[in-house]
Amino acid sequence: MCGICAGIGKNDQIAYVILGLKKLEYRGYDSSGIAFLRNKKLEFIKSVGQIKNLEKKIPNELKENIVIGHTRWATHGKVCEENAHPHLSENKKIAVVHNGIIENYESLKTEFLSDKKFYSQTDTEVFANLIELQKGKNLAKLIQATKLVKGSFAVAMLAENDENIYLAKKASPLYVAINNDGAMASSDISVFANKFDDFYILEDDEFAVINSKNVCFYDKNGKKIKKNSVFLNNFDFKEENLTEKYFMLKEIKEQPMVLRKTYFKYFAEDFFSKWDLEIIKKFKQFHFVACGTAYHSALLGAQYVQTFCKKECKVSIASEFRYGNEIISKNCLYIFVSQSGETADTIACASLVKNKGCKIMCVTNVPYCTLNKLADFVLPTFAGKEIAVASTKAYVAQVFTMLIFALKLADKNFQEQIKQFVLSYEIPSLDKKFLKEIFKFKKIFFIGRQKDYVTSLEAALKLKEIAYINCLGIASGELKHGTLALIDEDTLVVAISTEKSLKDKVESNLQEVKARGGKILLVSNLQHDIEVEFLINIATFSDYLMPIVSIVPLQQLAFEYAISQGYNPDKPRNLAKSVTVE
Ligand code: M6R
Repeated sequence: MCGICAGIGKNDQIAYVILGLKKLEYRGYDSSGIAFLRNKKLEFIKSVGQIKNLEKKIPNELKENIVIGHTRWATHGKVCEENAHPHLSENKKIAVVHNGIIENYESLKTEFLSDKKFYSQTDTEVFANLIELQKGKNLAKLIQATKLVKGSFAVAMLAENDENIYLAKKASPLYVAINNDGAMASSDISVFANKFDDFYILEDDEFAVINSKNVCFYDKNGKKIKKNSVFLNNFDFKEENLTEKYFMLKEIKEQPMVLRKTYFKYFAEDFFSKWDLEIIKKFKQFHFVACGTAYHSALLGAQYVQTFCKKECKVSIASEFRYGNEIISKNCLYIFVSQSGETADTIACASLVKNKGCKIMCVTNVPYCTLNKLADFVLPTFAGKEIAVASTKAYVAQVFTMLIFALKLADKNFQEQIKQFVLSYEIPSLDKKFLKEIFKFKKIFFIGRQKDYVTSLEAALKLKEIAYINCLGIASGELKHGTLALIDEDTLVVAISTEKSLKDKVESNLQEVKARGGKILLVSNLQHDIEVEFLINIATFSDYLMPIVSIVPLQQLAFEYAISQGYNPDKPRNLAKSVTVE
């Protein structure tokens, strides 16, 4: 993870870099720092915690023209100022900010740097020293060092007595923007305001040197290369305004609007008219791959394609897929689901199958992301920018988009039903009366069958992620195969029940819970004949739309639980929005 931002130009760059780092905080917020060139010497300021802590440490009068900055999600070494970036080489001549992981940093240390003193536990400090050790000019040193390194990196480097910023990239994103006043580099395009004229996407094994007058690109042999600037078609640089106290709450409330927008884009604008669906229909299998919440939406996507298109579907967790013995087949369409389009494990899987000549489709929410660049087909979700780490509206958008995709592929005409749904669906308000009672439970299980099982997985993830409750999502039928042993009077079982045909089965499972003294919160649109302690009634829509409806009160529940504990749901501990390392 981590975000890097660098600025060089006529005006003070510290303010720009700090602004950029704030926009990159979604990539990690353990610590941050900047390095700059002052009287040709390198200096730095670092701080633990969010960018606002770093900002407080920067004197108002400090204005600099050549600055690199970093916001960290800790991989190597605990969260402390020593481990915060930028990292300097031992002789303080090279400063580096880095996103990614140098996998062979221990062996590099032993082989080349045994006489150096290290001040941090990071892989990046090894990188800085390795660059310093190389011969030649600064660009040549950087190129040489990257040849010794295994792993992933997006790097911005400053050197003493040198008024350039050097950039290198492999498997982690890095973008460059320039105008008459100077240049900027960043891990994410959205960091650049629309005041820039030209934008460039650095590719793997490419290098760039930026200064206040121009930008030059080089290949791995140090040969100058020409790159064309990219045209950012309608790219939205607008920042999200916080209209609620928390982004998570804002994003939960935006879900009906997201559904309407998705409907509009896919039906009114007839998205698929530009596609040759016949090509997709020819695939015999569909294999969905994703992580976290996106994996849960993929589970539903697979159920939809299997149900409506009668095609064989498989779903894998990306970090498992990439190291498994998957049989990769050209008869299969590989579908990668990712809000950010930058998740390292998901990208690795996409590259893996693409290199074997297979076709891939990506379901992504961020335009100009790495996954889209790899994709043969892109199915965009229209959730808008999602800022809170916990995914809510992006999940609902993924599920809805994959549902529309499956229906379209199956030539089913559900347009009118879907239209009625998006027009009438509203966010229910959660009955706060019983919430206090719910917050007493520290042991919670979410159970469900089929699509409701997926909802139980997603609901449990939300509660773990932001309220730090040790909870699990389980297939209802699995309870008696082990987990039932944990049920007692202090346990809350949240049962999701929206499938009419499975109502009796759910009731039997709940009787088993009751018999062990467990308490029940039932989330359902059905008329159940069982007494439960807590009930959330949800609206009824067509069966295939119910996962969208049933997850919302559970997102709200997780949000309220986190707030009741005094936690910030937007920035949960130990996590980052975009997981760009494996
Ligand atoms: O950007 P992606 O959708 O690929 O991210 C995948 C997961 O990291 C993400 O869904 C994560 O599980 C969420 N923070 C959960 O709310």
